[in-house]
Amino acid sequence: MKILLFGGAGQLGHEIRKRASDLDFETVSPVAKEVDITEPDQVLKVISGCRPDVVINCAAYTAVDKAEEESALAFKINRDGARNIAIACSKIPTRFIHVSTDYVFDGSLGRPLKEDDPKNPISVYGRSKWEGEEAVRDVLGESAFIVRTQALYGQMGVNFVQTMLKLIGDRELVKVVEDQWVSPTWAGWLGEALLDLARLQSGGTLHASCQGTVSWYDFACEIRRLSEGQFEGRRMAVIERTTANSFARPAKRPIYSAFDTTKICSVLGRPPMKWQEGLRLFLGEIGIA
Ligand SMILES: NC(=O)c1ccc[n+]([C@@H]2O[C@H](COP(=O)([O-])OP(=O)(O)OC[C@H]3O[C@@H](n4cnc5c(N)ncnc54)[C@H](OP(=O)(O)O)[C@@H]3O)[C@@H](O)[C@H]2O)c1
Repeated sequence: MKILLFGGAGQLGHEIRKRASDLDFETVSPVAKEVDITEPDQVLKVISGCRPDVVINCAAYTAVDKAEEESALAFKINRDGARNIAIACSKIPTRFIHVSTDYVFDGSLGRPLKEDDPKNPISVYGRSKWEGEEAVRDVLGESAFIVRTQALYGQMGVNFVQTMLKLIGDRELVKVVEDQWVSPTWAGWLGEALLDLARLQSGGTLHASCQGTVSWYDFACEIRRLSEGQFEGRRMAVIERTTANSFARPAKRPIYSAFDTTKICSVLGRPPMKWQEGLRLFLGEIGIA
């Protein structure tokens, strides 16, 4: 089976490429310099030339805080880029899997979010991703998979786990927000789940995260606990609780955006990995636990 992957050099795309050939996928993955998803002609040309069975879009503008001042660019990539790919997929035709985010929700419900819960993005990034989803649905209806994920970490890029590991080694004290809750998701698990979805002849919107809910503070404590062996004999920072209000950032984040994963569980025929298991596997992969 042949996949055309946009965003293959990013955090999630890297994990998909790493697993694809072992799972018998042939992957074509042009980097942004070769194919810019905001250019419809480039997108159509690469898809019609490659004739993939499935297109997976992991390309996105992901700088959540910077998006507040680069709104036009965020919408160009996250909404218009997604639409360009959907239109090209409808013309060939080719199946499409598009990746989206928990930031399409405002996080005020205080319970795990289902796919059709009310959307109310509270940041530019969240709005641009929501409009990207809507653009894909306008063109392809329910035939495309729109896969929302959250709190991703993997080997590539800057993410919470890698940042914590560095701060725990460099500092005496690290303050972490205790009043925002997520389902931390190992990009390795998600990459494999997306490849499984690529084999299915169906579509729809899915919530794809590792299972379970944790505050950023408790997540940081677990990272510290599991990495103790790595710091043997060396000082490790103390993790201290703080609140989202005292940790102001340009873009607002949802307070509670853990996912209800019942739907993806039935589509894949198995439950997602628990977040603790994902973290343990990831730390093992990078030689820390
Ligand atoms: N990271 C998270 O915590 C998180 C949470 C929820 C959802 N998501 C979603 O998951 C998906 C993957 O995220 P990620 O963390 O893997 O992102 P990432 O590491 O920032 O990677 C994004 C990729 O998109 C490429 N890209 C950007 N603009 C492009 C353009 N105009 N044309 C072609 N490629 C372009 C980038 O290429 P260059 O590096 O060359 O610019 C990069 O390879 C995204 O849809 C994101 O919204 C992420």
